[in-house]
Amino acid sequence: MLAAWLDAHGRALWWVACVGCAVPGLWLAFCTAGQVLGPNPLESLLHVTGETARTLLLVALSITPLRDAAGWLSRRVRSRHGKRLSDWNWLVRMRRMFGLWCFAYAFAHAALFFEFDLGRDLSVAWAELVEKPYLMVGAIALVGLLPLAVTSTRSMMVLLGRHWALLHRLVYPVSLLVLAHEWMTMKAGSWDAVPATLVLCILLGHRLLVSAGRIRAAGHDGVEVPERLPGDRSGQELRAPGTR
Ligand code: HEM
Repeated sequence: MLAAWLDAHGRALWWVACVGCAVPGLWLAFCTAGQVLGPNPLESLLHVTGETARTLLLVALSITPLRDAAGWLSRRVRSRHGKRLSDWNWLVRMRRMFGLWCFAYAFAHAALFFEFDLGRDLSVAWAELVEKPYLMVGAIALVGLLPLAVTSTRSMMVLLGRHWALLHRLVYPVSLLVLAHEWMTMKAGSWDAVPATLVLCILLGHRLLVSAGRIRAAGHDGVEVPERLPGDRSGQELRAPGTR
């Protein structure tokens, strides 16, 4: 019943999540306008944009395991709805939105640093990148996020076909780089990055077990599947074309 309700209200949930993603940015804009960002406004801006981007990246990464788990649970409790992969397409649409918000915050994070710390000077920016490894790691992560954001649309999915899933595996090394970047910026004795690191370890562990065939995955790298696939019989688990 819950699966059917979630599917029916997928669009509304999408909007709620989308507005939720905008909140940190709106809050920063509001605090900046009111000049209440604290003694070091740039530090606060970098902190909030960086942490939001990293959190959204992990949320986007959780969608595929979540969809697998939801399908498995629906079959386990013999729910009438939720056994088919297509019942969870709304989750995939959410994943795309989280990914795009992640890129927007990451871009804003880097742009704020470039504007207010480096004074928009490209030669200073290059010298800083070469001198400070944490900046280089962050920059590589940002560059890695770019093709993921650009190819996140449905038309790009169709255009790239099977290569789309391959390209989007880039998200795993990128997330490792993001966490490395965060650890490198941490002050001695700070454990702020521990929860995110644990979540990433679980997600990567799940991915490795799926790749090694130790866990049965219902989905195919988070792609949407048609509502009805050939041979679809009500209540049967289906797989996306081309999946194991
Ligand atoms: C060109 C790219 C990037 C630059 C120049 C950059 C720059 C910075 C700087 C200057 C800091 C603050 C360091 C400090 O407090 O001393 C920082 C922290 C951080 N960055 Fe980045 N970054 C980049 C890319 C990214 C990306 C792509 C992400 C995530 C998707 C990210 C997430 C974070 C996080 C989570 C922190 C720690 C925030 C905190 O706890 O205060 N950064 N970054």
